[in-house]
Amino acid sequence: MRLWKLSLAATLVACGPAMAAGDAQKGADVFHDHCDFCHSFRLEDGNGTGPNLSGLAGRKAGTFADFEYSAAMKNSGIVWNAQTLTQFIQAPDTVVPGTKMVGFRRVDAEDIDDLIAYLMAAGSPEAAPTGNLAPPAGATPAPQSPGPPTP
Ligand code: HEC
Repeated sequence: MRLWKLSLAATLVACGPAMAAGDAQKGADVFHDHCDFCHSFRLEDGNGTGPNLSGLAGRKAGTFADFEYSAAMKNSGIVWNAQTLTQFIQAPDTVVPGTKMVGFRRVDAEDIDDLIAYLMAAGSPEAAPTGNLAPPAGATPAPQSPGPPTP
């Protein structure tokens, strides 16, 4: 009985964060499908149709060098984090009325968390300026649920 309780607790602890957070590896595919013909996280790629996203996490909106942002973006006062990115991706013209980011394919609701996990990882200070995910592609991913299987 005691053992059973212990393992249940371990299972709950193991599953909790894994279920809440998105999967950055899956998010990389979403980014490839919806975003990367206008944006790159690699500093050496510079700006495209959209601004370079290197170091995005914690960056003030409209501040990447040498990109001609809309006045709306420059004056938005937004700082990019998981919450502001979620809102912007779902409704760019509502969050930043007058934004130049138009004509991109909307991301399905069920893919948003994965995309945001990728944006925050690839845009983190540790990943800048390359935008590489840690661990690098090809590394063995950490097991999703180290706890005992749920009944
Ligand atoms: C058709 C080209 C295009 C596509 C596709 C596109 N964007 Fe953009 N994006 C832009 C442009 C242009 C801007 C600058 C907007 C402005 O100045 O108002 C921008 C701005 C941004 C910004 C603000 C950056 C900053 O420096 O403040 C973020 C974040 C962003 N895009 C994320 C995304 C994500 C995530 C996707 C995929 C879901 C995406 N974009 C798809 C063109 C695009």
